[in-house]
Amino acid sequence: MLDARWWQRGIVYQIYPRSFMDSNGDGIGDLRGIRSRLPYLAWLGVDAIWISPIYTSPMADFGYDVSDYRGIDPRFGTLDDFDALVRDAHGLGLKIILDFVPNHTSDQHPWFLESRASRESAKRGWYIWRDPAPGGGPPTNWLSEFGGPAWEWDAATGQYYYHAYLKEQPDLDWRNPEVRDAMLSVMRFWLDRGVDGFRVDTIHHLIKDSELRDNPPNPRFRPGMPPHRELLRLYTTDRPEVHEAVAAMRRVLDDYDDRVLIGEAYLPFDRLMAYYGQDLSGMHLPFNFHLIGAPWDARAIAEIVREYEAALPEGAWPNWVLGNHDKPRIKSRVGAAQARVAAMLLLTLRGTPTLYYGDEIGMCDVPIAPGEVQDPFEKNVPGLGVGRDPERTPMQWGGGAGCGFTTGRPWLPLAPDADRNNVEALRGDPGSILSLYRALIALRRAEPALAVGAYAPLAAGEGVLAYAREHAGRRLLVLLNLSSHPRRLALAAGAGGARVLLSTGLDRAGERVDEAAELRPDEGLIAEAQGAPG
Ligand code: NOJ
Repeated sequence: MLDARWWQRGIVYQIYPRSFMDSNGDGIGDLRGIRSRLPYLAWLGVDAIWISPIYTSPMADFGYDVSDYRGIDPRFGTLDDFDALVRDAHGLGLKIILDFVPNHTSDQHPWFLESRASRESAKRGWYIWRDPAPGGGPPTNWLSEFGGPAWEWDAATGQYYYHAYLKEQPDLDWRNPEVRDAMLSVMRFWLDRGVDGFRVDTIHHLIKDSELRDNPPNPRFRPGMPPHRELLRLYTTDRPEVHEAVAAMRRVLDDYDDRVLIGEAYLPFDRLMAYYGQDLSGMHLPFNFHLIGAPWDARAIAEIVREYEAALPEGAWPNWVLGNHDKPRIKSRVGAAQARVAAMLLLTLRGTPTLYYGDEIGMCDVPIAPGEVQDPFEKNVPGLGVGRDPERTPMQWGGGAGCGFTTGRPWLPLAPDADRNNVEALRGDPGSILSLYRALIALRRAEPALAVGAYAPLAAGEGVLAYAREHAGRRLLVLLNLSSHPRRLALAAGAGGARVLLSTGLDRAGERVDEAAELRPDEGLIAEAQGAPG
């Protein structure tokens, strides 16, 4: 594993650009803002930043509705700003990963405007247009992820078009070779500009059933779940032909040196593995979101890791994610004490970690008053708790009115605790969660056992998750107490003991562990084994 690629050894940091840093006082983050904060990211020690969409967009879904794939939205800056960002990032040894949104465009994209203009339009076949069902109404029962039917009626041309998300986000028809060519050339445009890879949005949606079969009902659906869950997405997602499209994207990347292809797909492990592609000709990293939905329980997480490790195809590289712009923040899910254990978990498992901006300072979901809701998902399906604004609030850089994020009015409210929980305050505190993240990142970089070593689960009692990471004869033990009680973990007899390298409280380095490790409530330890592997 000594020849591991940067995206295998490295740590990815996700930036939600509207909320990271505002340079011009309009309350919305931008590229110059990100650029000004690159030294922080270098200080933190991450290797790559993935930036959620920055392309020209009407912002119906905050950038996931692209109206020009080759342009930068003026709210975020200009192409010159982007080039400067790439230049500076590379100068600091940071890679840049862009979001690529191939499944749908904005309804304001010139391709869609042309497609919509008439049935005879040269671009009609770029989107999924269908006649009404024989008795009238939408062609299938397919539902939009954001509520309501997935078909929108176009009275002018007398047909429906399909949209997996908002009606402002019509789906492209990836069965159409012209669409593929156009989208692959978009990838080349950015690769030529120096980006180091892509996170591909909602990849499993790319191909829909050619026979347009109705989706079956979901027997597990219960009131209170988002309405689209009423049906199983059998004919709208994860169709077999998607893998050809993924392989085509990968071939584009392979024409360049050392770039990465990451795919977003919420799928069970057996389905997810197919996205590595035949002979690993697909995604380098199909995102593994299983920690996001996991109950915070040692046994459940041990089982997830076991299942994932067992399911990985030969040679496939693992990855782990704790949070993103679509899901509640880790600290809000597990509490402040366990958020530190979670950080240790994320940064010691085998595989590339992706860290969501702000988690390193312990940001929480911020309650959003009804009148301040921005997320279209919440607006369409109110009251079910699906809104994504709470995890998208501005980064807390310092104290004061705009918390160092903006001099204007932030587009989403700042966290009520932003005055205390911010980079400036936590940076100087040697016991803070930020100091813990930084120490974990530094240790992962310094220890090949953590970055690329083998993984082996260790027997542990109730509430404890324990494993070893090993490389070239060096063996590190990771002992995580997911409970709020003290726990004792016996080391294997004759193992020779261990020495603590890092604890979640940042206060136990250097301690010896002989027969057993004593874990305080909500504590994690990383220790180096000192004798023969036990
Ligand atoms: C997944 C993205 O992460 C989410 O934010 C977006 O709304 C949908 N895809 C649609 O692009």
